[in-house]
Amino acid sequence: MRILVVYWSQTGNTKKVAEAIFDTLPEEKSMKTMEEVESLDGYDLVFIGFPVMQFGPPPPTRKFLAAHAAGRKIALFLTHAMPSDSDDPQQQEMLAKELDRCRSFCSKSELSGLFHCQGELSEKTANELMDSNIPMLMEFAAMRPHTIGHPNYAELAEARDFAGAILFPGKSN
Ligand SMILES: Cc1cc2nc3c(=O)[nH]c(=O)nc-3n(C[C@H](O)[C@H](O)[C@H](O)COP(=O)(O)O)c2cc1C
Repeated sequence: MRILVVYWSQTGNTKKVAEAIFDTLPEEKSMKTMEEVESLDGYDLVFIGFPVMQFGPPPPTRKFLAAHAAGRKIALFLTHAMPSDSDDPQQQEMLAKELDRCRSFCSKSELSGLFHCQGELSEKTANELMDSNIPMLMEFAAMRPHTIGHPNYAELAEARDFAGAILFPGKSN
């Protein structure tokens, strides 16, 4: 089975998850950025990763999904600033909507699963979002202190487990 891990990552969080997934996979495997991929022909399974931006996939990843994902067996991995384990129903709902939105861009693919975890909002990014004067983006900027250190050790371990579960469905560790 030929497996590809492909990702887009602006500040490195999604790349960390990509590497954790890649480490877990058996041969025959490769890892590429979205910019490096010309075609998904020849791969039996593709792990596709990107950060959530403005409540959905960022434009380069939308383009990638539109060009390549239809008809493919894929698994998604996402990072986002929103906490995954929030007690706040509003935050839970917002995150669920973001994830649904990302899934909806893969409606023509065979989606085997979706992994997601929090990713640190870099100081530079938080400052830029704060300067945007767009209230929603400023709200994200204010989340920075709660995002520091993510994805953490436990989340990267969960990403590895996710990859295992995609490869061997039904087998518990
Ligand atoms: C312009 C911009 C918009 C963002 N919008 C969202 C969002 O809508 N929801 C969210 O949970 N996180 C949002 N984030 C946070 C990123 O998804 C998060 O920090 C992610 O881990 C970054 O991944 P990367 O390091 O792979 O680029 C946004 C970040 C940026 C820079």
